[in-house]
Amino acid sequence: MSRRPIIAGNWKMHNNRAQSEELICGIKDAIKDIDKDLLPEVVVAPVFTSLDIVSKNISDCACGKIQLAAQNCYFEPKGAFTGEISIDMIKDFDAKFIIIGHSERRQIFGESDELINKKAIAIIEAGLTPIICCGETLEQRELGVTDSHIASQIVKALENVKPADVANVVIAYEPIWAIGTGKTCDSVEANRVIKVIRTTLAQIAGKDNADKVRILYGGSVKPETIKEQMAQSDIDGALVGGASLKADSFAQIIKGAMK
Ligand code: PGA
Repeated sequence: MSRRPIIAGNWKMHNNRAQSEELICGIKDAIKDIDKDLLPEVVVAPVFTSLDIVSKNISDCACGKIQLAAQNCYFEPKGAFTGEISIDMIKDFDAKFIIIGHSERRQIFGESDELINKKAIAIIEAGLTPIICCGETLEQRELGVTDSHIASQIVKALENVKPADVANVVIAYEPIWAIGTGKTCDSVEANRVIKVIRTTLAQIAGKDNADKVRILYGGSVKPETIKEQMAQSDIDGALVGGASLKADSFAQIIKGAMK
């Protein structure tokens, strides 16, 4: 089963408009001479206030080499939800992906599996692709409950999603202890957990659909780690935080994921 790899940059709460423009221009420039068919699907997720400037910059790039993602959304279409932003509002910027369930949203902002499930359903109904994050804490890993925890996050996130729609979601396995710490999860171990995710997806949606799902690894991905990660059977790309904030290191990661 060949799945097109994805390299996604999660800019988190970094970069105002001018800084976002500088970064996206740097990324465009670094990959301008590479044939689109050789590239992985490249995705960037700026803060909401930079979606417009990044969107303008990537639509200029007639080659369509870079796709836009938002870092979050609310599932209701409109209403009295102070501080939230709807999927339709994100669609205004021609975004194709929305990251949901990031551990920072779960841990700092108290997002539940139920909320993440509502977001997943609304994103799919709107014709966009959710990038659904899951991951265990160091404590869960040491207690030996990693696999059951991850499987439960996946089952809950995808409750009531049609099997054919499951095939199109993107999952990011991000062990929490590896995020922003410089401690990358061993590639063989990351691949093992990703296989657990794929088996869980097969139980929910059937093997054919599960085999189509792109599952990324995230957590201190760097230019030096990407080749080994991409060499694993079930790792279909990366969700990159810190190393996506510099055009040069993000471009090296993109190149490391090329065919
Ligand atoms: P990191 O972040 O690459 O800085 O570890 C990854 C993420 O949180 O998506």
